Parts: sequence; C-alpha cells; structure tokens
Amino acid sequence: MTWNRKDILDIESLSVDEIQLILNTADGLKEISQRPIKKVPTLRGKTIVLFFHEPSTRTRISFDVAAKRLSADSISISASASSLIKGETLVDTAKNLEAMNPDVIVIRHSSAGTPYLLAKRISTSIINAGDGMHAHPTQALLDMMTVREKKGDLKGLNIAIVGDISHSRVARSNIVGFTKMGAKVRIAGPPTMIPVGIESLGAIVFNDMDEVIDGADVIMMLRIQKERQQRFLFPSEREYASRYGLTLSRIKDSRPDVMIMHPGPLNRGVEISSQAADYVNSVILDQVTNGVALRMALLYLLAGGIRHADDH
Ligand code: CP
Repeated sequence: MTWNRKDILDIESLSVDEIQLILNTADGLKEISQRPIKKVPTLRGKTIVLFFHEPSTRTRISFDVAAKRLSADSISISASASSLIKGETLVDTAKNLEAMNPDVIVIRHSSAGTPYLLAKRISTSIINAGDGMHAHPTQALLDMMTVREKKGDLKGLNIAIVGDISHSRVARSNIVGFTKMGAKVRIAGPPTMIPVGIESLGAIVFNDMDEVIDGADVIMMLRIQKERQQRFLFPSEREYASRYGLTLSRIKDSRPDVMIMHPGPLNRGVEISSQAADYVNSVILDQVTNGVALRMALLYLLAGGIRHADDH
C-alpha cells in the first residue's frame, strides 16, 4: 500500500492496513537501535518539533531519540519556555513554527482535540502525543507492536485493561486499536472509573479484577490519574490495591504465558506491586524499547516517504 497520510491524530482514523504498515516499518527499524552506531541518514535535513504542554518522560524522550537515530534535527519547546505565557494563542504559535518549515510537529496537550485543531490550521504534519483524556495513538501502536512481537498475531487474543479507564487516553486508544486488529478487549476498574458507554468502543466491562484477568493473554495495568480527577473516586489507595492491584499471586492464578504491560509511569504498590512489575512475564521495558522503533516508523512515514507493507 502507499502511505499518503499527513497526520497521526488517533487510532480510529487508521485502517488495518495502515496499522500493519506502521508496525511492519517499526519492526524493520528496530535493529538500528541495537547497532554500535545507532544512526542512519534516512531523515537527514528534516526537522522535528517536540511541543509538549504536559510532563512526559517516555513519549518525549523516545520521539527525540527516534528523530536523532534517523538523523533528523529535533527541537523541544515547552509551554513555559515559549511565548504562550506572553498571551500568544496556540494556533498563532503553531503558525509561527510552520513558518520555520519543520517537517513534523509532535504535540502533547491537556485539552482533547488540540492536535486536530493544529492539523486543520497548518500544513505541517502533526502527531498526537496525547490530548487530554482522549487519545494516545502512538502508545497504542507501540503496545500493539509489543504484543504482536511476543504473540505473533493480535487476532483472537484476550486483552485485559485494568484501572482508571475514565481518565485514560491510553485505554481509549488501546481499546479501539486492539479491537480493530481482531483482539477481544475486556476492562475492569472501580465503577467510578468506568465511563458510561465505553462498550461502544468494543470493550466488555467486568466488575471484578480476578474475573477480568482469568484466561487473559495480556494484562495491561493503568495508573490512577489523580491529576485529572476532580474528586476522590475510591476510598483509599490501600483498598484500591487490594481490589484492583496486580500482585504476584494474581499473576500466578492467570495464564502461565500472560504478558504484563503498563504504559508508565508506574505507581508501585498501588495499581501494580513491585514483584508484579518486575516479574519475568513483564514487558514494561520492552514497551519502552519498542516506543523508539515505533516513533522512528511514524517519523519515517510522515517525513520520509513511501514504504510498502511487504518491504520486510
Ligand atoms: N506512557 C507515557 O505516555 O509516558 P509519558 O507520560 O512519560 O510520556
């Protein structure tokens, strides 16, 4: 297939063929990071702007590493160090960035929809690195890459996503992505953290942690997003950990080959115990490794050119 997409805004708008092309491209680029000299000239002369309005470790650094491994120039700007604090609007800021002719702008913003607004108003390619509680498409793509790498195929797998589903852009993008690729997604969490109508995305809602992980091929744990909660949605962290936390004993009651995932950052002892996070079945750091390859693939496809699905 021919790649002709300008932006990556969400998983909904990507076709199965486009997702497969992205994952195949990432698989092919992954070995560059294992070389003694971890750099290829593919995007030499291209410019990537990293525009993060919310804190980030994994997403921002992995986009930066991805750009550098492909020899692109990457420039980071934050809201506090830009003229936004002098009253310039976000669109004006983006138009000024566009005037400097970058090839891709990667944006994270606390307001859902911001990347769509910029994608409409400027001609530069936009990648959504997380918009409010709405979407985190590059996280979902790297999660799909990680599961596909270990399990071979996503079709028919049972994916359990547990935690603060209401406030999680990772949950939304993963429910849509895994379902689109033929997996079955089940979710669980305190009723106060399960949004009404989430079933319409294709997920099956469970009330009980032990039921949702029973027979699951993948258990994906999510952090409680206190920064997005207006009020306390559970009595105590201790009670939360006991009812919805992933522990070694829960893992041992599940499938022997179950994959343990978490997008990070972890709150050890709350949604996941240290023993569970560091267990042999945990692929949490593989997700981070694959995040670099996946973001290299997106920068390559948006800024670099055309690749064919069967190139590998
Ligand atoms: N998973 C994720 O988005 O992590 P960061 O917030 O550190 O980028």
